Amino acid sequence: MTGWQRTVGCGELREEHIGREVILNGWVARRRNLGGLIFIDLRDRSGLVQVVFTPEQGGELFTTAGDLRSEYVVAVVGRVRARPERNPSLPTGGVEVLAERLHILNEAKTPPIYVSEGDGTEADEAVRLRYRYLDLRRPEMQQRLMIRHRAAQLVRSFLDRHGFLEIETPMLTRSTPEGARDFLVPSRVNPGRFYALPQSPQLFKQLLMTAGFERYFQIVRCFRDEDLRADRQPEFTQIDLEMSFLTRDLLLGLMEEMMAFIFREIKGVEISLPFPRLRYDEAMARFGSDKPALRFGLELCDLTDLLAGSEYRVFARTAAEGGAIKALRVPGLSGCSRRELEELAAMAAAHGAGGLSYLLFTSEGPKSPVAKFLRPEELEAVKTRAGIREGDLLLIVADRPTVAATALGALRLEFGRRLGLIPEERYAFLWVVDFPLLEYDREEGRLVAAHHPFTSPLEEDLPFLETAPERVRANSYDLVLNGFELASGSIRIHRRELQERVFKVLGLSDEEVREKFGFLLEAFEYGAPPHGGIAFGFDRLVMLLTGASSLRDVIAFPKTTSASCPLTGAPATVNPEQLRELHLALT
Ligand code: AMO
Repeated sequence: MTGWQRTVGCGELREEHIGREVILNGWVARRRNLGGLIFIDLRDRSGLVQVVFTPEQGGELFTTAGDLRSEYVVAVVGRVRARPERNPSLPTGGVEVLAERLHILNEAKTPPIYVSEGDGTEADEAVRLRYRYLDLRRPEMQQRLMIRHRAAQLVRSFLDRHGFLEIETPMLTRSTPEGARDFLVPSRVNPGRFYALPQSPQLFKQLLMTAGFERYFQIVRCFRDEDLRADRQPEFTQIDLEMSFLTRDLLLGLMEEMMAFIFREIKGVEISLPFPRLRYDEAMARFGSDKPALRFGLELCDLTDLLAGSEYRVFARTAAEGGAIKALRVPGLSGCSRRELEELAAMAAAHGAGGLSYLLFTSEGPKSPVAKFLRPEELEAVKTRAGIREGDLLLIVADRPTVAATALGALRLEFGRRLGLIPEERYAFLWVVDFPLLEYDREEGRLVAAHHPFTSPLEEDLPFLETAPERVRANSYDLVLNGFELASGSIRIHRRELQERVFKVLGLSDEEVREKFGFLLEAFEYGAPPHGGIAFGFDRLVMLLTGASSLRDVIAFPKTTSASCPLTGAPATVNPEQLRELHLALT
């Protein structure tokens, strides 16, 4: 590279550089031969500029330039001049570089995906991931990872300013219960024993509070062996933090400031503070979701009291059994076809609903198989409660309260999208607070922690912990942004007796508790301060900051939905010798 070291980035060139000699290093984005001249677009991470080769500059230079292909790596020495005709679509569009010398640093085969053109979505994702280094070379991906870098720096500087210490915690550890399966690592030197990769640093950060660090944070990788979706990866990054001697308001206030800071610096938008707060039960009742998208209305309503005495058996039975009859009004859709209604019913069923009833409020009166079962006064009451106007569609689900709400919540989102009600570039943050401490896991047939077992119950609900555990609310909070759960945390239990009570309600035997969490309970006996914390999904935050639609687009080397990496071929088989060393046999 001697003599070829860049003096300026391609994307940095402007009119003020005209007349200057520059050295550029980068990739050939495109070559065109035009009117006896050769033009290349030269790209580096700062952007792209046009370089011109003329025959007058020398035959050899011109011949070499003629050999250039896309993605060749080159160094160019040349002089900046004004472009005869400005290209308004490029920041460097006012200038070009007249090449004087050219050095090919490396050649490139024809790339299997377009690096320069398009947004990459036209390329199959499997190919993009297989050739990730080319996919990442695309300006759009470079932008996303630059924003990711910037967000990480901003988080660090904000938390440092507020007295948080960055402390690392182990990757080879034992299982932490965050509700997913563990990735296990066999120990060679301890036959038959396994480490678990951390699902989060939860226990360690609580131990750091016990150790007296008072404010901790870490931008940390977490591992969860769960079914993947667009907003889930098996290894993902958290902004994890914990503080001692806090009130919930102090922590939530700080986190709001941190979000406002990041969105101001990166998006140039002012987020208004404080964020609204919704109790979990209110979020479910109004939006049918514990992570409601607030950028549009279409709130659900509850018809249980109005239809409990209805002739329609499903309604009456549901109400009698303690279920709920919930409804979603969709404006102007009374012309919905039978097929569309069937599709909606299938969608509701996918979210667990046993059925979907509907009323089409046409100009000829309500149309619905249910209508004949409703007394005129019931119908009037329903119309008033739901705010029905002629032309509306009313969708009704009668089921267990959470199922009815969740199914209609999903339809609400669907109509928000279909009716174009969701404004772009608006950031609707909110806190959802006071989740239930425990939830009933139908598969396992027992109560499980809704957040994790270290979450403190609300003080006023403590008396019901053993008698009516499902009634107990947690001192927990989720930060929701545009329908995504961005962060989640809680005030923790810091006394041994209460932690033991919660473990007992969760059905853990003394033996299990001692074996899995003995070290935590012991630590609580040596002066654990009151503490609490939160963890942000950092990938999700970057996804929302960049407007990407998948976590895979903001992680340099992500996994596919089948948890594999097409680039490296992981996970891979290992040789028998490795298995033997690890004392493992495959069955
Ligand atoms: P939780 O399990 O809710 O809490 O995780 C915190 C946040 O991490 C993100 N997240 C994920 N992102 C991508 N892929 C995944 N598979 C994934 N799973 C979770 C979400 C979520 O809100 N220890 C507690 C935090 C605490 O109590 O302080 C915890 O891990 O954005």
